[in-house]
Amino acid sequence: MNDELKEIIKEFNQEEPNIQLKISNRPDLCDYQYDGIFAIAKKNQQNPYDLGCKIVTKLQENFKCLNKFSKIECVRPGFINFTLSDEYINELLNKMLKSSKFNITMPIKETIVIDYGGANIAKPLHVGHLRPAIVGESIKRLLIYMNQKVISDVHLGDYGLQIGQVIYGLLKENISTNEITIELLIDLYPKISSLCKENEQIKAECSSITKQLQDGHKLYQEYFRKLLEISKEDIKKLYDYLGVNFDLWLGESDSYKYIPELTKALENQDLLENSNGAKVIYIAEEKDKNEIPPLIYQTSNQAFLYSTTDLATIYQRKKDYNPNKILYVADSRQNLHFTQVFRVSKKLEKTKDIDLEFLGFGTINGPDGKPFKTRSGNTPKLEELFKETKDIYLKINDIKEDYSVKDLDIIVNSIIKYADLQNNREKGYVFDIDKFSSSIGKTGPYILYTFLRTQKIIKNNQTYIDKLSKTIYNGHDRNLRMKLLELDEIINYAFKMRMPSIIANYLYDICVLMNAFYENNHINNLKDINIKKDWITLLDLTTRIIKTLLDILVIDIPSKM
Ligand code: ARG
Repeated sequence: MNDELKEIIKEFNQEEPNIQLKISNRPDLCDYQYDGIFAIAKKNQQNPYDLGCKIVTKLQENFKCLNKFSKIECVRPGFINFTLSDEYINELLNKMLKSSKFNITMPIKETIVIDYGGANIAKPLHVGHLRPAIVGESIKRLLIYMNQKVISDVHLGDYGLQIGQVIYGLLKENISTNEITIELLIDLYPKISSLCKENEQIKAECSSITKQLQDGHKLYQEYFRKLLEISKEDIKKLYDYLGVNFDLWLGESDSYKYIPELTKALENQDLLENSNGAKVIYIAEEKDKNEIPPLIYQTSNQAFLYSTTDLATIYQRKKDYNPNKILYVADSRQNLHFTQVFRVSKKLEKTKDIDLEFLGFGTINGPDGKPFKTRSGNTPKLEELFKETKDIYLKINDIKEDYSVKDLDIIVNSIIKYADLQNNREKGYVFDIDKFSSSIGKTGPYILYTFLRTQKIIKNNQTYIDKLSKTIYNGHDRNLRMKLLELDEIINYAFKMRMPSIIANYLYDICVLMNAFYENNHINNLKDINIKKDWITLLDLTTRIIKTLLDILVIDIPSKM
């Protein structure tokens, strides 16, 4: 339709107009709307309503394609409203039915490295680890669905000061490498961390251990390898529980071997400058509203920092995968860090062609708006959170039946993930277990219930699945069909914005319409075979779309609820 409209509009406006039909925000009046008339009318000093009427008349005279629409009209003050014909709606839906990926327009294929998860070893895992894992995994699945070549990397924080601190603590308490356990680390890290805050000398000692470790100190390396092994196991357990998978389990430490090469490249381009003994890279630009401080590449006592490892990692990824893009899913508070790293990477000949995107996320808060805590205690350990969610789900929904452990885990996952992913990732949100565990409202369980409900109907009526006829039977029916037609636009928008929330919200809309359809149209008692065929086919498409979107949101399907 855009093409036909474009041709007509060109007659009235010499410049190439940007013709975009928008999905109507008044679905009771029309399906699509064109609101570009005002700009053209203003330029031509015309009345927008008159101009709109002229264009509509022309469209109707000139184009046979108008059988796509049951109505086109201009309404005051100058919008053009389009209503699709039932026949055309079904033609489009039939195309979706036939295609393996619902006839979605695919973007060009690129090689994309996605860096998410990013847990720090030797530190306890807590609620703050959920978002980078869930949001990252969902974006990764979306990229893969959209035919991108994707390489995912967990990029563990494994060479920072916390390692020096933990090694310091272990040595002070005479703990040998064989005696290290995850429980021990969980206790140890907070102790040493607060010691360092109080005592400058201890802090300096920990820094020095970190530095020596980075330089290859034998004993420290031994401790480091053990810490890495034990932490990784613990981190993997969490990611497994969440269904989060990585192609690469690399970390900061793996980038170290690229630092000498990187340093040479930076030196060759005269990018490294001396500042009180430290090596820095100046990156401020004239247009900056806030001052962007130089990136510290190496401190005056020769240590490399978080930024250095991130730059070396870009270097490494370029060599290994030659990606078009690298995406970073990390806490929004790291914005400055990534601005610095990206600017240097853009200056560097070797890496300047890679598009770098920082996909920041906000924090998870409790109902009081402060960082989230479980009811039972102060440190929100993840296992406790999962258990609490499970208990609340069973209680709130008054469930007495026996659920398998697997099904319950899937449901807990759906609660936590849907609570998270329905929010614009850039914003923080309030995690309210009671609210998100309910099977009523905008929750994971509600979506899963809806899915299981439609799936059951389909299972009992497999033989009716066919292609859709030209007919639509009533308003609930039409609403659901129209919603499904939005899939292409929605998923492409979510892809472009890297925003799983766009998909989560759309999925909820589908479920609401599906339930309204189901409650108002009694499929099981239908006598008319033609209607039954159409409706079962429609529900088949609906369930397949719901399943696809759930998978992008990292939510599995339980066997029952
Ligand atoms: N380990 C980091 C942290 O805990 C997150 C890593 C993000 N990725 C990166 N390439 N810097 O904050």
